[in-house]
Amino acid sequence: MRPADSLPDILAHAWSLLVRGGADRKSPVHTPVVASVDEHGLPHARVMVLRKADPVSGTLRFHTDARSPKVAQADGRAVAVLAYHPQEQVQLRISGTARVLADGETVDGIWNQSTLFARRCYLAEQAPGTPLPGPSSGLPAWIEGQQPTAEQIVPARANFATLWVGVQAIDWLHLANSGHRRAVFRAADGWAGAWVAP
Ligand SMILES: Cc1cc2nc3c(=O)[nH]c(=O)nc-3n(C[C@H](O)[C@H](O)[C@H](O)COP(=O)(O)O)c2cc1C
Repeated sequence: MRPADSLPDILAHAWSLLVRGGADRKSPVHTPVVASVDEHGLPHARVMVLRKADPVSGTLRFHTDARSPKVAQADGRAVAVLAYHPQEQVQLRISGTARVLADGETVDGIWNQSTLFARRCYLAEQAPGTPLPGPSSGLPAWIEGQQPTAEQIVPARANFATLWVGVQAIDWLHLANSGHRRAVFRAADGWAGAWVAP
């Protein structure tokens, strides 16, 4: 059910969907599409796991391989995040600025909290997108199908990065037979929000 036609309630609802998306693997907002633009102006969209949404700082956190093309495309640049919640019938179109953090205490803490299994993919020998001679996971043969030990995972840390999106605008669209609703919220307007035609 959508909140009443109140802009502050709708903004709070949008953030509640994001917070839930970051915390609940079963939420459809857990796997939004993140889009960036490359140096030729071409857009690239890909699914990423939303690790955390923080309404207080207005940030979304993702994890990625520091060598992946999206890191260079996104760091310090504008990105879009797109999610659709079918049960709520809400689309969230978010724009913001990305920042990539690969080093420091915060990132070390996040790395250490991830499961060894989740950290395994950062053992890949080649950067994501590197051409391969044949089908392969890209992981070294000795770790295929196995969970690494704490010692074995150490070299993977160098390939791990966090990608933070500082949210600058949220476009909220709710579909309903009784009438769709759409509202746009911008940091530049102090998040007051405005109704727009759906
Ligand atoms: C369900 C799902 C979740 C994914 N989660 C992530 C993720 O959290 N981080 C990530 O870097 N790639 C994730 N991927 C892979 C990306 O979609 C993408 O294929 C890969 O990161 C390479 O992207 P790039 O070449 O644009 O850098 C996920 C893919 C799927 C299908």
